[in-house]
Amino acid sequence: MVQKRKVVLVGTGFVGMSMAYSLLSQTGIDELVLIDIDHEKAVGEAMDLSHGLPYARNKMRITAGEYADCKDAQIVVVTAGAAQKPGQTRLELTQINTKIVKGVTEQITASGFSGIYVVASNPVDLMTYVVKAVSKADASKVIGSGTILDTARLRYLMSEYLNISSANIHAYIMGEHGDSSFVPWTNCYIGCKSLLELLDERHKDLSDLHDIYTQVQQAAYEIISRKKATYYGIGLSLNRLLAAILHDEHSILTVSAYQQGEYHQENLYIGVPAIISSKGIEEIIRLPLTDVDQAKFDVSCKTLKEAIEQTID
Ligand code: LAC
Repeated sequence: MVQKRKVVLVGTGFVGMSMAYSLLSQTGIDELVLIDIDHEKAVGEAMDLSHGLPYARNKMRITAGEYADCKDAQIVVVTAGAAQKPGQTRLELTQINTKIVKGVTEQITASGFSGIYVVASNPVDLMTYVVKAVSKADASKVIGSGTILDTARLRYLMSEYLNISSANIHAYIMGEHGDSSFVPWTNCYIGCKSLLELLDERHKDLSDLHDIYTQVQQAAYEIISRKKATYYGIGLSLNRLLAAILHDEHSILTVSAYQQGEYHQENLYIGVPAIISSKGIEEIIRLPLTDVDQAKFDVSCKTLKEAIEQTID
């Protein structure tokens, strides 16, 4: 009997439901279960989404459920928690969301779930650390959305700047999904050509790159100041991550991954390029960082490590 491909979403707020809605264009999912502390909200979301199925590409079964439904799921996506308010940093959500994510993880784990945790609750690097600590799952099966969205923002802005398809822009945002992230520019390629070589040929000013990074770093604040929250970008980013897992893609995505020395740091989750497959994180890709970029990575790790104390009892 072919095993049902089942995804459970915990948290039916804007982020979770943006992902759920985008999954209607995704293949590879037979069943989507929605869990929320407000069960009636989850029921309403399941009804609303299901009514669109006749016109959707994907014919998955969508229901509201309980934590027991996690037992036979391949993936559980955790988006539960408070969202940034205008001007608020993601790190300022650490205390309130640690309590929420700890409780959620305890209930997921109690169901007997043995699949892959995908975490998006902010600050996502710390919340992913909490999920690993509470679930005691193997690090490869606890994945944070990390800087997947930041990398998409970077590629979008560079695509506009260079007038080249984002599909040919191989550039990453690394580090915290937050203010201390950075771009290892010397490791950026446009097609098979070094970005820096291309900019030199086009007589571009390298300060443009700093402006582009600043737009990425400030994007969430700019969006939240206008529409009170961000959700489409992260929803599609989670969709991208789930596709890599469900289709065993072995694609490289900048997820929040558990560090075991790959970049000379240990015992924290932070955004790095990693190969994603049906097993979760297959391998962290080690980039040859310059001394300056390694220092930026170390600062980002220090920022998160100082905040990790808040997540431990
Ligand atoms: C953002 C949220 C997902 O960057 O942290 O939009």
